[in-house]
Amino acid sequence: MISVALPKGRLGNKVFDIFASVGYDCEEMRSDSRQLVFTSEKNGISYFLVKPSDVSIYVEHGAADIGIAGKDILLEYEPDVYELLDLGIGKCKMCVAGKNNFKDNPEVALRIATKFVNITKAYYKSINRDIEIIKLNGSIELAPILGLSDVIVDIVETGTTLKENNLGVLTEIMPISARLIANKASYKFKTDEIRRIVSRFGEELKND
Ligand code: PRP
Repeated sequence: MISVALPKGRLGNKVFDIFASVGYDCEEMRSDSRQLVFTSEKNGISYFLVKPSDVSIYVEHGAADIGIAGKDILLEYEPDVYELLDLGIGKCKMCVAGKNNFKDNPEVALRIATKFVNITKAYYKSINRDIEIIKLNGSIELAPILGLSDVIVDIVETGTTLKENNLGVLTEIMPISARLIANKASYKFKTDEIRRIVSRFGEELKND
């Protein structure tokens, strides 16, 4: 039996479809319910639906054997897990964004609102820029609009949120995509099963 932490939402649904097509279907998952645990004894799989940013916590602590997490979360929290496969889906970019006419003044610390404190620190350290971080938990785009910060560091997928708030990308920091991760002990004790999933996923994604 393998347990999988799936991110709730569009990415999780897409990943579940891949699991189903490589032999890990679970009929119950197709029901429209608020249930969070779905098990198929027949196919030897259990799915947990979790908040995307929590997937790596479940996997690191062994509550789930494997999971699907964004590279952004892995870089930000550095969970002690194995990263086994880049799924090449859930693609987006970590960016610095702000008002389109924003002019940086290198004489003063740049005020940055973000959920991604560690990624932000590492990036600005790499370019030797003084910063002040304002940690927010969502709707980050509001910060430069209200003057709470000069810029933001956030995920940009379609760019719609920035555009609809009259903001734009100032710098692309790095590309992000979804990764298949595994708990280290699970990988040791369920090596064959987990490797089989990784190789079937690889094949399926190649044919996509
Ligand atoms: C993320 C991100 C941006 C938005 C980008 O927010 O923080 O706000 O998606 O997507 P787009 O480029 O396709 O518009 P999320 O939906 O996770 O909500 P949040 O406000 O809670 O961060």
